[in-house]
Amino acid sequence: MDAEKAHHLALSLAEKTHQSTFLQSLTRGIYASNINHTSDSVQLWGLDFKNRIGLAAGFDKNGTTPLAMQALGFGFVEVGSITAKASMGNPKPRAFRLPHDRSLINRMGLNNEGTDTIIDRLSQQNLDIPLGINIAKTNDATIHGDLAIQDYMYSYLRAQTVADYITINISCPNTGEGKTFEDPVALKELLQAIKSSATSVGVPSTRKKSIPEPSTFAYVPTTVKFSVDTSREQLMILLDICENLGIDGYVATNTSNHREGLQTPEKTLLKIGRGGLSGYAIASRSLAMTTWISEALKGAKPIISVGGISTREEYLARLEAGASLVQVYTGLIYQGPGLVSQMLGS
Ligand SMILES: Cc1cc2nc3c(=O)[nH]c(=O)nc-3n(C[C@H](O)[C@H](O)[C@H](O)COP(=O)(O)O)c2cc1C
Repeated sequence: MDAEKAHHLALSLAEKTHQSTFLQSLTRGIYASNINHTSDSVQLWGLDFKNRIGLAAGFDKNGTTPLAMQALGFGFVEVGSITAKASMGNPKPRAFRLPHDRSLINRMGLNNEGTDTIIDRLSQQNLDIPLGINIAKTNDATIHGDLAIQDYMYSYLRAQTVADYITINISCPNTGEGKTFEDPVALKELLQAIKSSATSVGVPSTRKKSIPEPSTFAYVPTTVKFSVDTSREQLMILLDICENLGIDGYVATNTSNHREGLQTPEKTLLKIGRGGLSGYAIASRSLAMTTWISEALKGAKPIISVGGISTREEYLARLEAGASLVQVYTGLIYQGPGLVSQMLGS
């Protein structure tokens, strides 16, 4: 089955579960009844995590399934990426499985229903696990410079009203302009704007609603998500900027544009074309980045390690490398809904 069709099928089952307390207890009974929450729990940023395994951004872009994910045993969920304006994303097909590599290539292109719809939806939910919201710039090449910063700010300020933590996705490889905020100057400007008083920030011109007053909301811990393609040298420059601006944690990593070392035939890869590589193929580089951040900060800030994790051993290796939390996405596709329980050794 086409990878995106399979995703929609899984998503619609999860949406049904999200909407039904009966299906949630059934799901919990089948997949998560053995999970012993007391031995795996951890407190970070003042939040209680029942366990350290979360759902990575991109699976639930529109916030329609968090209660289903809670029922599967996830210790936290990261919704998004959400963007200020709704987007259809890139033309299909845009997701491809690489079974020989236990990996996936996607160029979804930040398809989502837009910040307003998603935040309104999430504000009506009663979740027992921490909710992360991942924000990105609207996939529209005409939004750049100051407008790009305003675009992020809009989502940030709205996300503050419901999120337990916010991830700033500076590393999506699939946008029209192909440019990310991993450029140090651009990153500094963006984080300065987010961290400073937001009163001077306007609303993207097409929006009618006004930005909520930032002072109305309690501060929400904020993380930055890096690409797995970031070199160690570049990472240190970006980390320095983030640390100077008081970022609270890091998500390592997003997908890769590289294709080296794959088992999948070259011909197949050429046919698939561009997109972000996720899954086992990026595991060692994602692990290395986790180690680099942990060593550089001497464990001072929580790291959410993500990229190619799908077994208990891989999960424990990330904790060993300095991660406080981990996330999974591609592993869930290959291993199925019992993944959290398996990784926790329940
Ligand atoms: C189909 C797909 C869509 C994704 N969309 C997003 C996204 O919108 N925002 C984001 O920050 N990461 C996104 N990601 C990246 C994942 O959150 C994760 O960082 C990456 O896939 C590595 O983890 P994994 O190997 O467990 O999949 C996406 C990944 C996939 C496979």
